[in-house]
Amino acid sequence: MIKNTIPIFGKTLMAVLAGVLVMIFIVEKASAEGRIEGPKYDADGQLLRADGWRQWIFIGAPLTPNSLNDGKAAFPEFHNVYIEPKAFAHFVETGQFPNGTMIAKELVSVGETEAVSGTGFFQGDFQGLEFAVKDTERFPDEPGGWTYYSFGHALPYEKQAKAFPTVSCAACHQAAASFDMVFMQYYPVLRAAKPK
Ligand code: HEC
Repeated sequence: MIKNTIPIFGKTLMAVLAGVLVMIFIVEKASAEGRIEGPKYDADGQLLRADGWRQWIFIGAPLTPNSLNDGKAAFPEFHNVYIEPKAFAHFVETGQFPNGTMIAKELVSVGETEAVSGTGFFQGDFQGLEFAVKDTERFPDEPGGWTYYSFGHALPYEKQAKAFPTVSCAACHQAAASFDMVFMQYYPVLRAAKPK
């Protein structure tokens, strides 16, 4: 009697353990996927502008003003850069940009240069919106699965945008950005959030 009980008990325990492991796996997978607010496309495959980017996580504001570029900077405006919050949360946990990551870069004119605090560069008006999107399922042949979009330079911005050819945007990012096609070197918020 005792002889038989032990193997049965052992098998039951194994079955329960296996069940628990499968459940943990399913819950993990579901919550990881549920976290990402991924890109959406229209019937022609154009990226639909995700609204609310100004409420995403603000990661930096590079500035290449005309006054420091012989009066002819390629992008003389501030570049306000934001990452979609669920992708950011995933980055904080894993140090990786999950599939579906969206990063917005909004151009803002350099407004007044005199303020009560001193002479400097201050933000004026919104002047353009670009997105970088990581989608390895839709774009397996693009470097890192990243594609790049512009919603124009006038308000209201376009509602959808076509992916640029790889050479127009991705090539420079691939050559010069410090982490997974993103210019991490200019985003202290991301560097501080990356798990050590
Ligand atoms: C000559 C190099 C170069 C090219 C070409 C280029 N970029 Fe960038 N991009 C940068 C640099 C440098 C930054 C970060 C600093 C800044 O904003 O000036 C950046 C940042 C970005 C960001 C913020 C996220 C990130 O990866 O850091 C987006 C979005 C972006 N670029 C979109 C585009 C789009 C759209 C195009 C094509 C129309 C493009 N870029 C072409 C150099 C480039």
